[in-house]
Amino acid sequence: MNKTIAVIRGDGIGPEIVGEAIGVLDAAAVKFGHSFTYQEAPMGGNAIDAYGVPLPDESLATCLRSDSVLLGAVGGPKWDSQPSANRPERGLLKLRSSMGLYTNVRPARMFDDLSSACPLRADIAARGIDFVVVRELIGGVYFGEHSTSEAGGEQKATDIMAYSEHEVRRVARVAFDMARKRRKRVTSVDKANVLDTSRLWRRVVTEVAAEYPDVELLHMYVDNAAMQIVRDPSQFDVVVTENLFGDILSDEASQITGSIGMIPSSSMGEGTRGLYEPIHGSAPDIAGQNKANPIGTILAAAMMLRYSFDMPAEADAIESAVDQTLKAGYRCGDIMNEGCTLLGCKEMGAEIRKRI
Ligand code: IPM
Ligand code: MG
Repeated sequence: MNKTIAVIRGDGIGPEIVGEAIGVLDAAAVKFGHSFTYQEAPMGGNAIDAYGVPLPDESLATCLRSDSVLLGAVGGPKWDSQPSANRPERGLLKLRSSMGLYTNVRPARMFDDLSSACPLRADIAARGIDFVVVRELIGGVYFGEHSTSEAGGEQKATDIMAYSEHEVRRVARVAFDMARKRRKRVTSVDKANVLDTSRLWRRVVTEVAAEYPDVELLHMYVDNAAMQIVRDPSQFDVVVTENLFGDILSDEASQITGSIGMIPSSSMGEGTRGLYEPIHGSAPDIAGQNKANPIGTILAAAMMLRYSFDMPAEADAIESAVDQTLKAGYRCGDIMNEGCTLLGCKEMGAEIRKRI
């Protein structure tokens, strides 16, 4: 198959980790007889420097023409003083909404070989961590009206959180479909004791659940969910929640696996075109030093093959190459253990490529 992949290298460690993911994609292409064409789409701080905006129209067009998008990471302290409408993150939000990517999937799975990195008590970790956060990505307070005004000698700021039924229904269906292929349990997270948007969320999710009698539905308040994720993560299978709650809980969920550098994510809408990225940030402190862990981005590339290109064998080959590399004792700095071999970003990419 021929596929065109839009590539957003981004800022900080972005170019390094994306470079290694492309190397792994190319190794899979050779092995399985595919051809991947890469088209650069500048976005983030580097695009602000070069073009004055975080997401140039040309980059957006390249993404919309592609079969899928691979992204490293955007942002950094250099652009913190940008007006809020022109921050690197705005590019990412505009890209998500222009591509209609309403579902963001972030797995929280502990790798067997990395269980010593888990920050939870050993008896809690031993029960296993294997759940998925399904986050609504283009609604809620992220996309409501934002405003700051001046009154009575002080500033006042407002951010509107809004949800319509169809926005809840479509992401809820994704969560239930996913649960069907897993342990058949959906935990819907909201703040229905306080927010109208959450009451609407809860009602619509409950309606959708009626279409899935084989899947169990539980509702949980977001404050309790934040606590339960560290108290007993083994209770979760699929967690579905609105945009801001999902942003917060997915960072928490990734951190308890001990290896935020290893976790990929996918963002999808109605078609097969998706946006695939690691969930970590641009790590400007280690940028350009060959220290970043490329595994999150490499696993994101595997997700792209699985979910957007329907290439499960190819995705398996990448995931198993990552497993074997870890089993062989190779580590990057963020997941380093005693007795293992420390590798740089490039060397980690090469070890994984070798095992495809
Ligand atoms: C994420 C990030 C983004 C978000 C930022 C960079 C806008 O934190 O992908 O989780 O809040 O969605
Ligand atoms: Mg986040």
